Amino acid sequence: MIADKLGRRFNNLRVSLTAACNYACTYCVPNGKRLMKAQNELSAPDLLKITQLIQAVTGFEKLRMTGGDPLVTPKFEAFLLGVAQLPLTDFSLTTNGQLLLAKEAVIVESGIKRLNISLDTLNPLRFKQIARGGDLETVLKGIERMLELGIAIKINMVPMRQSNQEDILPLLDYCLERGIELRYIELMRMGHLNQDSVYQSEFLSMQHLLDEIGTQYSFERTDAPFDSTAVRYKVPGKGYFGIIANESEPFCTSCTRLRLSSDGYLYGCLSNTARTYVGDLVDEPTDVALPKLEAILTKALGDKRLAFQGETTVMKFIGG
Ligand code: GTP
Ligand code: 5AD
Repeated sequence: MIADKLGRRFNNLRVSLTAACNYACTYCVPNGKRLMKAQNELSAPDLLKITQLIQAVTGFEKLRMTGGDPLVTPKFEAFLLGVAQLPLTDFSLTTNGQLLLAKEAVIVESGIKRLNISLDTLNPLRFKQIARGGDLETVLKGIERMLELGIAIKINMVPMRQSNQEDILPLLDYCLERGIELRYIELMRMGHLNQDSVYQSEFLSMQHLLDEIGTQYSFERTDAPFDSTAVRYKVPGKGYFGIIANESEPFCTSCTRLRLSSDGYLYGCLSNTARTYVGDLVDEPTDVALPKLEAILTKALGDKRLAFQGETTVMKFIGG
């Protein structure tokens, strides 16, 4: 087992299936241009093979599919069904939800039990301004359908002072009414926001969010899994919400995450551009690939920071 001095080990693999996305969210891309796939993206069988090799070395138990948006690529079906066969305690995906209805059949076939959906507003105009793609109504229909199918949903919202502050409470109402766990994500200094004054003008802190929620709901802090991204709150009799507080309460010292990008690089830390190419390991015999991978993973674990300090990496390349 590879572990560091803090006891951190890789137990949670995030696989970005493609860098392509049908949105161009303001906090992810600077110029409003839709994201295209990366050059030399790996096929679903190759991503699956690397996933299995990583599991052989680390024994990770949790896997999340991300992107870009993982539903826009034709690889999605094969990868999802492959992952569903792996020995995992939890597999899930993070999507903007635009293609949930279109992909319903394979989602059901895979037996996936939960999904995280990014949704920053319930207002159609603000939706167009932030996502710069897609259509709110389709996402909401997709969410309703997934709930009907008994799939648990978390919604990720990035609250921003000038873009969607008005949505903080309406989104919580919407989620509590439907048994959805809403997670507010403090705006992260990733990509173009790393050195940008927009970051300061848009950032809303955890305390700001709690104060606003407190005007309408009473809540208490409750337990979250040890390696959770979110601080979790219970609204008695109504449900739960969380805050992913990268600035106010970073969780780096208990981070168990490892990332595999669609073009075959492993990243040990979201807040570090260090990466190693592993796409060539699919051509090696397993007994050669595994020791090489073990060395790469040991290095990747050493790349983990002690605090989130932002990064120039664009989220689309490493899947958030
Ligand atoms: P759960 O398994 O449901 O807890 O999912 P998750 O919160 O790990 O994944 P999701 O894709 O929904 O990510 C939510 C937010 O957490 C995004 O803004 C991510 O960028 C952030 N996040 C995910 N992984 C990391 C990480 O390794 N470090 C930091 N600092 N933030 C992360
Ligand atoms: N700050 C906070 N959250 C972000 N996400 C993408 N970019 C940022 C950012 N700069 C979120 C998406 C998605 C999750 C994977 O990461 O909204 O829910």
